[in-house]
This record gives sequence, structure tokens and C-alpha cells, in this order.
Amino acid sequence: MQEQKKKLWAGRFSKGTAKLMERFSESISYDYRLAEADITGSIAHAEMLGSCGIISKEDSALITEGLRSILKDIKQGKTEFDESAEDIHMNVELLLRERIGEAAGRLHTARSRNDQVATDIRLFLKGAVKETRTNISALQKEIVRLAGENLGAIMPGFTHTQHAQPVLLSHELMAFFWMLQRDKGRFADCLKRFDYLPLGSGALAGTTFPIDRSMVARALGFAGITENSIDSVSDRDFISEFLAAASILMTHLSRFSEEIIFWNSTEFGWAVLDDEVTTGSSIMPQKKNPDAAELVRGKTARVYGALISLLTLQKGLILSYNRDLQEDKEPLFDAIGTINMCLEIFALMLEGIAFNKEKMRSAAAKGFSTATDLADWLVRKNVPFREAHAMVGSLVGYAAAEGKELYELSFEEIRARIPLAEKDILDKLSAESSVNARTAPGGTAPASVKKQIEDAKKLLEGE
Ligand code: ARG
Repeated sequence: MQEQKKKLWAGRFSKGTAKLMERFSESISYDYRLAEADITGSIAHAEMLGSCGIISKEDSALITEGLRSILKDIKQGKTEFDESAEDIHMNVELLLRERIGEAAGRLHTARSRNDQVATDIRLFLKGAVKETRTNISALQKEIVRLAGENLGAIMPGFTHTQHAQPVLLSHELMAFFWMLQRDKGRFADCLKRFDYLPLGSGALAGTTFPIDRSMVARALGFAGITENSIDSVSDRDFISEFLAAASILMTHLSRFSEEIIFWNSTEFGWAVLDDEVTTGSSIMPQKKNPDAAELVRGKTARVYGALISLLTLQKGLILSYNRDLQEDKEPLFDAIGTINMCLEIFALMLEGIAFNKEKMRSAAAKGFSTATDLADWLVRKNVPFREAHAMVGSLVGYAAAEGKELYELSFEEIRARIPLAEKDILDKLSAESSVNARTAPGGTAPASVKKQIEDAKKLLEGE
């Protein structure tokens, strides 16, 4: 059996750590993902230590060269991490010592793992924000493409899962574009708030060395440095904010999924998904299930779970750093992986979606969905809207009792309930006329939706 390596912090200890404790407390099995951020941060720190004369220029150079070669090996998958060395920070330091010897021991001057890990996560999360925003834009492009290609297709618009008013399919699709646009804003906004370097805060109280924190901030691409060392080592707001943005994003994807699952159902039959993103049943040979959409809907729960984990982790936690905070990483990593995979699969699902426009169209005027248009016609004849509403309501009641749709009523049947009615009221009964009339900005008329799509394209191009 290999003898246990001495821990980097073992000075005051007379006994080794129990194996069970090692397994219990290690984080290397997941925080190895921070390797690049950790090493990049350490390089900037070592360069600063050298340039401020806190360590010699030679040691600084030895350390940074060593770190670069370690990063290269890690990227090439050559490195095996050691569980007994706890976490990524200790593992990197041990690797550095193997590579450059004693000088490695000077890297940890004027810092602590507490400000180090806070820095690593921020650096890592900057990359995650970028990746997520890019994937959101890719999905938005698919939405804009579909909306553009299907401009003119009419579907029933719903409230309370009841036919409400006819809308353009493109209008319905573009609703999701704007949700995603806000999501991108939320990610960018949370980045703005965490774009400050905590390194240099030490364990909690700051450092006695004449460090240059701004130099490190510039080297790592942060907008500035944090103001309070105690706050810096204990703050995980930025993870909560990221996960809140992630949760809201998943809410949107989940709602979109639900819509697609409905459209794809046997009863609706409005949308057909490509074989690539559907799966069969092990027992029912006829099945082709919308699993991609269902899984996105399901994985939403998992991302919410990550947010709740982080909030609960910090609730009532005494200042400053406590080991509890190590539990911030698994939910975060899981959520980052999940949201990005969901965004990618969604884009692929939309790439291959086909719409049965006839079916959508024939459903669109059903359920008395043009009743508001009749009321609007009366308002134009100077009838107060409330009265118009009542008149059309009684007409709908009559049609429902007769088992007819509004467009199936004769002019005589209409006039019997609405004495003011003139022949042109019949033109208001079709889904097309209903959609075409909604020309106010933001409405579902083809010209308005076209403008919406143009605006959306400009936004994407301007990124
Ligand atoms: N692995 C630890 C974490 O993720 C790093 C910080 C450890 N600090 C400490 N004082 N034990 O939080």
C-alpha cells in the first residue's frame, strides 16, 4: 500500500487523516474542472509577487513556467489527480513541487485557499456565462428562422388552455425569442456584478504583504477588485444569481417544451419532430415520443434544485469562509452542464420540426375565437364595448347551443341577435381577418410580426 503523502497543512498534526475523512472531504473528483482557472489565477498571482518584490524574479519565473507546463499536461489528459490531496488547489501545488522543487512553496505567499477558490469560481463562471449566452443566441437564431419561414401560418392562440384569439404561429414562436433575450440580459447582468477580483483577501482579513491586487485583476480580465476581504471569501451571491438566471431560463425552455409536446400530441398533430430527437417505446411499436422536450422539462427541476441548494447553503452561515461552501460546486457544475445541453438539444429539435399548417389553421377559427372581432366591429358602430361584449356573448351562447362555430352562422342568425349587424360583419368571422386586423405594434398582424422578426435579427447581428 502506498504510504499516505504528508498534507501541505500537516505541520501541527501528529496523526494522519482517516481514509473515510479523506473520501468525505475531497473535492478533487469534481473541482478538477477549475484546473484552468486555478492555474491561470496562480500564474497572475506569481507574476505579481515577482513584480512587487515579494518573491524573487527567478522564483516567479520558475513557478509560472512550471504552472504552464502543468496546465498543458492537464489539457492533454496526462494528469492523474490525487484524492488524498483534497482539492484542485492542493493538487496543483503538489504537482508544482514535483516539477520545480522548493520554489513551489513560495506560490502560496499572500493568499489563502479561501480567496483562491473564490477567484477560481468567478473565472470559471465568466466562461460559463459566455458559453450560455452563445448557446442562447444559437437557439434564438433557430426561432427566428422558423418564424420567418412560417410567416402567414395561423394557429389558435390560447388563454386558460382555451381558444382565445387566432395568432400567427410566428408570433407564438417569437414570444420565446424575447424570453431568451431577457435571459441573456440576466446572465450578462450577473457577470457585471461579479466581475471583481477577490484574490488578495487572504484567509479573511487581508494580507501583510505589499501586493498589487489591481495588477492581478487586470491580468485576469476583471473589471476591478473587491472592497472587503471578509465579504470576498464568504460571498457566493454570484453563484446564486447565476443559478437564478439559469432557473428562469429553464422555466422558459420548459414552457416551450410543454407547447411542443402539446403540438406534437396525437390529438393536436400540429407539429412533427424529427426522428433524430425522438425515441421509441420498448413495447409499443407505433410510438415516437417527444423525449427531448420532455427531458428539458424534467431537467428544469434539477436546475431549480441547484438554486435552492445554493440558497440553503448560505442561509444563516456565519462569516466568513466555512467548509460548507465547498458544496457550492457540484450543483453549479451540474446546472451549467444541464442548461447548455438543454439549449443545444432545443436548437437541434427546432432544426427538424415540421408544422401541419392546415390542421393549425382549421383549428384557429374554432372555439368562437373571433368573438372579440365581432365586438370590435360593433364598437366601430359606436356601441360601447361592454354592450358589444354582451351582444356577442349572447350570439356565442346561441351558436354553442346550435353546435355551430361563429363562421358557420348565417347573416340572418347573426342579425336576430345583433340587430345592428350589416353584411360586412361576416368578413370579421375568419381567422385571417382577425389576425390581419391586429396591426398595433407588438400585435399578431403579419406586418407587425415581420417587423418583430427584423428587429430580432438586428439584435442578434449586433451581438
Ligand atoms: N476545496 C475548498 C472549497 O472548495 C477550497 C477552500 C478550502 N479552504 C479551507 N479553509 N479549507 O471551498
